[in-house]
Amino acid sequence: MNKMKVGILGAGTMGSGIAQVAAQNEHETILVDVNQEMLDKAESSLDKILARLVEKEKISADDKINIQGRISYSTDITDFKHCNLVIEAIVEKLEVKHQVFSKMESIVSKDCILASNTSSLSIASIGSSLKNADRIIGIHFFNPAPLMPLVEIIPAVQTSEATLKTAKDLIDAWKKTTVVCKDTPGFIVNRVARPFYGEALRIYEEGIADFATIDWAMTELGGFKMGPFTLMDYIGNDINYAVTESVFEAFYYDPRFKPSFTQRRHSEAGYYGRKSGRGYFDYAEGAVIPEPNRDPILGQKILDRILAMLINEAFDAVFMQVASQEDVEKAMTKGVNYPKGLLAWADEIGLEKVLAQLEDLFQEYGEDRYRPNVLLRRMAVK
Ligand code: NAI
Repeated sequence: MNKMKVGILGAGTMGSGIAQVAAQNEHETILVDVNQEMLDKAESSLDKILARLVEKEKISADDKINIQGRISYSTDITDFKHCNLVIEAIVEKLEVKHQVFSKMESIVSKDCILASNTSSLSIASIGSSLKNADRIIGIHFFNPAPLMPLVEIIPAVQTSEATLKTAKDLIDAWKKTTVVCKDTPGFIVNRVARPFYGEALRIYEEGIADFATIDWAMTELGGFKMGPFTLMDYIGNDINYAVTESVFEAFYYDPRFKPSFTQRRHSEAGYYGRKSGRGYFDYAEGAVIPEPNRDPILGQKILDRILAMLINEAFDAVFMQVASQEDVEKAMTKGVNYPKGLLAWADEIGLEKVLAQLEDLFQEYGEDRYRPNVLLRRMAVK
């Protein structure tokens, strides 16, 4: 297994991180990008990252030399010739992915697995450009790839059992937490987590509470590491909005995933969050951090509503066989650091209580967005 030669296409945020993980796991790794500057950037940033790991005594100076020695950088895609696995992490455009997958297939051996790190395109659609599509698979890392433990493994309708097994065994051997999920929009994490942002925005838009209060409720009362607005500012409103919009479209405009005007306007205004200095909050030097309204009744109401929506989504993912119950729990705790698995959390609260909360919302608003999942209904009445 460790002798596998790994190719990574795209030396941006994700590709460079995945190359680091592969090289740290003793694979000869080739990082290919059309842009030489990106390769130079990836090489110098890896040097800095590894130097820090040496400083912190996480790795030895020899390890650093060995890891760097295992990665080669190239603008020539034909250098993938002897790879056993190539993971693509280039721009999120289907036409471009089609071109490169078809090109890669003409270069590599017939056994080479061709994987995509896509967040929003279907693996089936990417695989359609291949003659031998049973080698296609989704291997979806989280940012930053070297630090985030979760990797979603997504077999497409075309993927063979052998491809799935090899890919999963390999990423497990890299000591990542793998979950296997169906080739459906948002896979597990980007689907189940949508209400964390969407319901928070909705609560704000209805004038129930401001950003700071909603964040306070979710962190102080809910135990989440970051509130939804702080997290959206961290991810970038442009990116987070684009993911929401793509999941909404991919679900045939299911109102559960409806994007929000507030986020769209923030994104349009250039209020991306931390990276632009301003998002829902102001990140300028000396900017005043707004105080939340620490009313415990209001806080509990906010937490209960967002949590009920998250739990409903987790039940839907299990009900629709997107992933096993265990993998849905793992994905949300390891991929986005939720304080508890959503299904375990639902048991703790009481399924009847969660169901009643959703039924009340459904009744009050008359919107399909709040319809309780059938699996939750069935289990709550047992
Ligand atoms: P990025 O924009 O940082 O890097 C993309 C790289 O691909 C650039 O260096 C570009 O020069 C290169 N590239 C573009 N076309 C190419 C081609 N035809 N051949 C070779 N190289 C080419 O993008 P990022 O953020 O690393 O995303 C890459 C992929 O990973 C996307 O599919 C995205 O959906 C997915 N992803 C991104 C995450 C994130 O948080 N940024 C998280 C998980 C997945």
